[in-house]
This record gives sequence, C-alpha cells and structure tokens, in this order.
Amino acid sequence: MIKNVLKESEDSLKKAVLFLKNEKLVAIKTETVYGLACESSSKTAIQKVYGLKQRPLFNPLIIHVDSIDLAEKISIINNDSREIMKEFWPGPVTLILNRRKNNLVHDFAVSGLDTIAIRIPSSKFVLKLINKLNKPIAAPSANESGYISATDADHVVDSFGEKVDLIIDSGRTEHGVESTILDMTTNPYEIKRLGVIDYKTIRKKLGKKVKNLNFNYKKILRPNSPGQMMKHYAPKTPLKLNIDKPNSDDAFLDFGNKKVISHQPTLNLSESSNLKEAAFNLFYFLRKLDKCSKQRIVVAPIPNKGIGKTINERLKRAAL
Ligand code: TXA
Ligand code: MG
Repeated sequence: MIKNVLKESEDSLKKAVLFLKNEKLVAIKTETVYGLACESSSKTAIQKVYGLKQRPLFNPLIIHVDSIDLAEKISIINNDSREIMKEFWPGPVTLILNRRKNNLVHDFAVSGLDTIAIRIPSSKFVLKLINKLNKPIAAPSANESGYISATDADHVVDSFGEKVDLIIDSGRTEHGVESTILDMTTNPYEIKRLGVIDYKTIRKKLGKKVKNLNFNYKKILRPNSPGQMMKHYAPKTPLKLNIDKPNSDDAFLDFGNKKVISHQPTLNLSESSNLKEAAFNLFYFLRKLDKCSKQRIVVAPIPNKGIGKTINERLKRAAL
C-alpha cells in the first residue's frame, strides 16, 4: 500500500498547501486530467516537475489560478480574453496570453517565453489550494512525458509512485481529456490544442475568425507550443486506428453498439455512441489495455465531430 495518497479533506488540503510552500510536488485532480502541481515561483519545485515527467525543458507548463485577478497579475488581458474567461472559467479552456513578468511565475516554468498559458480549473479542492497558497500553481498533466495522461489517481501512482510527495485521490476526472488551448496573442486568435470545448463554441463566443488547429502532424515546424508537435498520449503497445475486426492477439478499443464482439480483451468507449462518454473513457481504457501486454491495441473508427475530433487527434498522435 502506497503511503503518499490521501483523499480530499481539510487535513489533506492543509498538507497539500504546506507541501507546495515547501517546494514539494502534489498531484491533483482537475476536471480534465490529473496535474502534477508545484508552486510556479519555485525553481527547485519546477525542476522536480520537469525531472519527474522527463519533460523537455523547452516545453512550458500551464499555470493554474483561482481568479481573473490573479491571472491579471501574471498576464495582459484584452477584452476578448476577458469575455472568454467569463464564459468558460472555471473550466477546460487554457488561454495563451502575453506574460507580465514578476516573481509569481519563475521564467523556468514558462521556458523563458514572453507568453503564458493560464486557466482556472473547476475543482473546488484545487481552487481552495490556490487560494490558501495565495499564488499560482504550475501543473502539467501528471504522466511521463509522451505517455497517456492520468485520469485517475491510480494512474499517477502507476506513473510516479512515491516519487510524488503527495497524491490527492479525488476519483476519476469528469472530462477525461485535456483543456482546449486558445492562443490570444496571435492575429487571428488560434486554437493550439483541441480539447473539451470545441472550436465552433469558441468562435461563436468571440464572434470573429479563429484559426483552428492545423492537422499536419508530420510537418515539424518551430512551434510556440512545442508539446503540440510530438508523438504524445502513446501507450507502450503499438496502436492501430480505424480497425473493426481485431486479430486474436490484439486488445480492442471499440466504440458504439454495432455488433456483438466476443473478442477478449475488448473495452467499449461508449456502447450508446456518446462521444462525451468516449472522451471520459479514452485514456482510462487505453491505460487498461496497455497493461494487457498484447501485440497491438486496435481502435474502432470514432465519428469526427464535436469532442470526437479531440479523441481522434489524441489517437492519431498516439499512433504516430
Ligand atoms: O487540461 C489541462 O490543460 C491539463 C490540466 C492538468 O490542467 N494540463 C495539461 O498540461 O494538459 P500539459 O503540460 O500536459 O499541456 C500543456 C500544453 C503543452 O503542450 C505546452 O506546450 C502548452 O500547453 N503551453 C504551455 N505554455 C505555453 C505557451 N506559453 N505557449 C504555447 N503553448 C504553451
Ligand atoms: Mg500533457
């Protein structure tokens, strides 16, 4: 039994605050995926995050705040950004903004960039944590760089075990995939990562042109969002997409209730073809199937609409 896992409580909240103040790492649930949190002003703690995740130093961290006021201390917010914040925060939209430099966020947390990625997550526990700390926290997804994101506390345990100082077990995350990243520093504004909130919803809210993510994965440009361009979200087992009939030594990730499948192992992302449910289960089931030590994980076709686009984008990058 691992000793560094606690459920949400007043005591675990106090401990988490103390740990963050003491430059330790605390894994926390957000509504999207688990984050590996540290105080964004602490170079020591940030170094630990990069080290533990084996994340390239040029890949900046998302900064989490508990209010627009705190966001304003570390970034420059124009009217459009404020509208997006009011509509979607707390929630799964991360904004890239021009950075206001000060010691609340160490240069090292943002890879020395002049921009900064910020969001307010919706977990009450995390909001209290930031509030008590009275500082932003940096929290990338709590998985080894390139591996499947963590949507349950057990995943964090599997990835890092006791190397994380504290893991707050708040159960499974609500959405199961990461936040949408919207760059407000470009003209037109630009979606940098597909996520929970889709392009159309954001464009409608802004009422102006927004550039959508460019799907050309093979073309490695110099991105201002480095994590976007690499193979990512990948199980250790080779992944093949758009397959309806698994081979005998495949693990099968199915979708919809088209036929009776007797193949073992099979996990169905959503028997009722509900794409939100499929997103909720995506990383959870990929991690499960990765543990089956099969030749391949094969995935049934997923409709490419709404959050299905995000699911397909994650799967394509995982299969690169
Ligand atoms: O849902 C989420 O966003 C989760 C939860 C924990 O909040 N976090 C998350 O963090 O997915 P991470 O580190 O796995 O992904 C953050 C992405 C990376 O691809 C990084 O390159 C990009 O955000 N990013 C961070 N700062 C940036 C910046 N200033 N400009 C462009 N991209 C940035
Ligand atoms: Mg990540």
